[in-house]
Amino acid sequence: MTIHSFASASSMLPRDVRAALGSDVAVWQNSGLSALELPFTGKEFADILALAEHDLRALLDLPDTYSVLFLQGGASAQFSLLPMNLLGGLKHCDYVESGHWSRRAIAEARPWCDVRIIESRDEGSLPPPGEWDRSHDAAYCHFTTNETANGLQFHSYPEASDVPVVADMTADFLTRPVPVERFGVIYASAQKNLGAAGLTIVIVRRDLLGRARSGTPAPFDYARQAEAKSKVNTPPTFAVLVAARMLGWLRKTGGLAAAEERNKRKSAKLYAAIDGEFYRCPAPPPHRSSISVCFRLHDPALDLMFLEEAQARGLLHLRGHPAIGGIRASLYNAVEERSVDALVSFMSDFKRRRG
Ligand SMILES: Cc1ncc(COP(=O)(O)O)c(C=O)c1O
Repeated sequence: MTIHSFASASSMLPRDVRAALGSDVAVWQNSGLSALELPFTGKEFADILALAEHDLRALLDLPDTYSVLFLQGGASAQFSLLPMNLLGGLKHCDYVESGHWSRRAIAEARPWCDVRIIESRDEGSLPPPGEWDRSHDAAYCHFTTNETANGLQFHSYPEASDVPVVADMTADFLTRPVPVERFGVIYASAQKNLGAAGLTIVIVRRDLLGRARSGTPAPFDYARQAEAKSKVNTPPTFAVLVAARMLGWLRKTGGLAAAEERNKRKSAKLYAAIDGEFYRCPAPPPHRSSISVCFRLHDPALDLMFLEEAQARGLLHLRGHPAIGGIRASLYNAVEERSVDALVSFMSDFKRRRG
């Protein structure tokens, strides 16, 4: 049976990447060592890190005015590390509250700064960036590009201003082109679109470095990590290799514009199968995510049966976020269109039998 995983994390990997990693684990090039055994101080790992950074810069067309940090701790650690690193002498930070993950970011930031909620929406819609009531005296303005648990995604970005924009792109990082120069900081965990858990990418505009409050742990101090090329301490070496393989695959398959096209096509197929009667999608069409497709059955009593029958057909990890319920299909970069086709076909069959 073919297995299709729609997990919110970790995501599937492209078949080519999985195969390459299998041989990397057996032996890394001519080193005589497994990729898991490479010292982080050695030339081999330095080359892998440089390749990952090079391909990331190429994909995003990232100017030299930005540093790329390869960190640990997940996006969740960044929720506290952003104010610790960016506040400088300021007090306030603007936050857009748009769903589950932005609320988590806000809760973690509160002990470190005076959080101003500049927009707050219920679960159903997103406040257009052009209408945010942004402050002039904030250290930064934070938002979450894709609300993974709620199935919502911003389809436009805020303009740059004197207050740097900071984005949690964990769920939709590298799934579409991004106007990077509008952002002060972009951060994302790797386990959704960039390979394996354990790595967090932080892209930070260089003029924002050096503002960390005293006492910020060295592995989490952006300036120190930028200076040390992400080697203040041992980086997650294998997760960096997986990211390097994923970045190479993304470039080979046409870059971010092609990724966006694939992701839109996959999600459009799935939304078309959510007919509004047997299956319902709570997110309004303009705010629907191309990456996190959340829906419900008309009778919640059928949820468990849907999940069990899907699993029996190899369609795995479709349960919605525990805080929200329902069904969720995560369609990250490596989820193939044939997986979506298999899900759509199962949904139609399930509806015919249970509708
Ligand atoms: C938008 C968003 N931010 C943050 C996180 C948390 O990431 P991590 O578990 O790597 O800390 C998630 C996880 O699903 C997410 O979807």
